[in-house]
Amino acid sequence: MIRTITCTINSKPITWQIDVRMSLADVLRANGFTSVKEGCGVGECGACAVLVDDLVVDSCIYLAIWADGSNIRTVEGEAKGDQLSEVQQAYLDTGSVQCGFCTPGLVMTSTKFVETHKGGKVSRDMIRRAHGGHICRCTGYESIIRAVEQCLEPEEKNR
Ligand code: FES
Ligand code: FES
Repeated sequence: MIRTITCTINSKPITWQIDVRMSLADVLRANGFTSVKEGCGVGECGACAVLVDDLVVDSCIYLAIWADGSNIRTVEGEAKGDQLSEVQQAYLDTGSVQCGFCTPGLVMTSTKFVETHKGGKVSRDMIRRAHGGHICRCTGYESIIRAVEQCLEPEEKNR
């Protein structure tokens, strides 16, 4: 069955005809949002994570029809021209991007975490738990934690 959905993706309104059986990941990729990676396809690895109405969602197990009327953010919308977002820059600074397959999903989870906790106190454990839905084969995770810390405590880094 084909239905029409209307939503906002990275601040731009879109209207798409979709098969109601399609996942949000498949619809996003089919429409050029190829930052959204499909690793496991069953909600285990986080490679497909995007923000839907400010919540981190594994888009491989989220039907596109559920996104009707929502505000979606993918990593394509995070940089402003050549200016990387704070989180993207921190990932680069800390060496958190290696093969890069997991990176778009992780960046969206980190972005949500940083936006939620900016100005507050966070522990490493909180950062670890917030990113627990992601698998990264390359980095060992330590650099990713440091990237998030850099965004939350920039003054510490510059001392
Ligand atoms: S591809 Fe969606 S969680 Fe692994
Ligand atoms: S950087 Fe390769 S899987 Fe994370």
